Amino acid sequence: MLHLIAAHQGRPSDDPIFALNREATQRREKGESIVNATVGSLLDDDGRLAVLPTAARVVREVPRDEWAAYAPIAGTPAFLRAVMDDLLGSEPALRASAIASATPGGSGALRHAMSNFLEPGQAVLTTNFFWGPYKTIADESDRKVTTFSMFDGQGALDVEALDRALREQVRAQGRVLLLLNDPCHNPTGYSMQASEWRAVVARILAHAEQVPVTLVVDCAYFAYNAGNPRAFLKELTPLVGRAGLLFAWSASKTFTHYGLRVGAVVACIADPSERTMTEAALSYSSRGTWSNCNRGGLAAITRLLTDPELAAACEAERAGFRAMLQARVSAWNVAAPGRGLRYPRYDGGFFVTVFHDDAFSKALAMKQDGVFVVPQSGALRVALCSVAERDVGRLVASLSG
Ligand SMILES: Cc1ncc(COP(=O)(O)O)c(C=O)c1O
Repeated sequence: MLHLIAAHQGRPSDDPIFALNREATQRREKGESIVNATVGSLLDDDGRLAVLPTAARVVREVPRDEWAAYAPIAGTPAFLRAVMDDLLGSEPALRASAIASATPGGSGALRHAMSNFLEPGQAVLTTNFFWGPYKTIADESDRKVTTFSMFDGQGALDVEALDRALREQVRAQGRVLLLLNDPCHNPTGYSMQASEWRAVVARILAHAEQVPVTLVVDCAYFAYNAGNPRAFLKELTPLVGRAGLLFAWSASKTFTHYGLRVGAVVACIADPSERTMTEAALSYSSRGTWSNCNRGGLAAITRLLTDPELAAACEAERAGFRAMLQARVSAWNVAAPGRGLRYPRYDGGFFVTVFHDDAFSKALAMKQDGVFVVPQSGALRVALCSVAERDVGRLVASLSG
């Protein structure tokens, strides 16, 4: 007799990306020459985790009692203030209406967004290329994922497809949660331009006159944007008071401390009573899932965000990492053109994507060459964040072979 409930029988035991990474690592340990472009963490050209030295030092300096004690359910007030100031400080209209709740990474923020802004059984709307765990997070909360076609014929965001999907969500569910991962979209590497954000906001506002429409911006790769990472925020200000606006903020990539599990859900809400109600609902969700976050981690990230010297040191070190990524992209741009590969404009971040009609067979064939990428429907995700510059040529050769 099976004791597991029917809906959970047959679930995969491992995240497919972690499983591919494990296979690549095992083959490398046996002495094979492997290019592992599956890992979503930034590695240096020697394959070691790239860690901001200042962040590592500050984590070590957190006192014993900070690690040992519980944090408040919503996170320490200093942490919440630091995140909201960091993210929204340049946009007073957003900052003034903001509340936040600590979450274990951006993943926790996405979990709270789905379970508080969709009814059970409803679907979150996102781009057709998306980070696979969105589906897992939705499944776990008895929600679903539905998508719109991300790119138009010119390789820009397909705003018309988004609008059609919004209309359908309004009709089918009477509420919408739109999830956009920007800047440095995972898996495509795409960052929306200001005009694209303006068009998206206009469509949201039109539909938000009829039903509750909430935008959640997954800004996990925010700090790796080539330009000003906060520039897009001013395009979002018209949403406040007219549509829901959430951010899934994460310290994982920004401070290269993925395992620290520090993040936050930030909500911009004009009406004070709705703000208080939302704050309470988010805390309640935390209490009912992970209870509270890692207090030591919150303390370290608070210091890194608020001490001007530490923040500047992190930014300088991060600029070095951005340059390392850029060198890999330049190698890509030398090797890839003329090889018949189709890929979107790369604007920074950890990944590029190559469009492929039979991505799963292609990824399997590439494994025979010792080159590991992550397949999804219609595309192969290439994690340039984990490939040494010297291996980019071999990676491109295998992709185009
Ligand atoms: C697109 C995207 N969103 C969110 C996350 C969340 O990461 P974390 O929970 O470590 O903050 C990741 C991590 O890989 C990601 O790629």
